[in-house]
Amino acid sequence: MQKESIYKQVEAEIYHVTEGENNIIANMASVSCLLNLAFEDFFWVGFYIVDPKKERELVVGPYQGTLGCLRISFDRGVCGAAAQSGKTQIVANVHDFPGHIACDSQTNSEIVVPVYNKKNELIAVFDVDSTKLCTFDDIDKFWLEKILKTVFEK
Ligand code: SME
Repeated sequence: MQKESIYKQVEAEIYHVTEGENNIIANMASVSCLLNLAFEDFFWVGFYIVDPKKERELVVGPYQGTLGCLRISFDRGVCGAAAQSGKTQIVANVHDFPGHIACDSQTNSEIVVPVYNKKNELIAVFDVDSTKLCTFDDIDKFWLEKILKTVFEK
């Protein structure tokens, strides 16, 4: 199946499951689970939450995959770059990204999307890692931004 069709299908499932649910952790767990099941290449799928008790630091949230690092400063890695800039980061080859945090050496490419609440405050970043190179493009950016906006800005 084409990437677009998979996103359309999984988007509908995500909206169905999270409709009327406002608990952030429950929604993060459901989004991670459904996207991980939908795409074969997705190897680590989950959230790093902005820690309200620490200055510019992310702490691991709900995810699917192998063990992720627990904390990431805004100054480090692809997740940090997404949190700092507030912009989606697409990395075709993580080995070329200065400061990439290798939680698992199987990761070769990744996308990280900032997640906002309805007050437009950054609450987390959503990180998807792939074992293949060059997995992510503007189609992933479009759909992931759309899904995260609908689920967390309501
Ligand atoms: N890829 C991230 C680190 C987190 S994990 O790989 C689960 C980064 O460089 O920001």
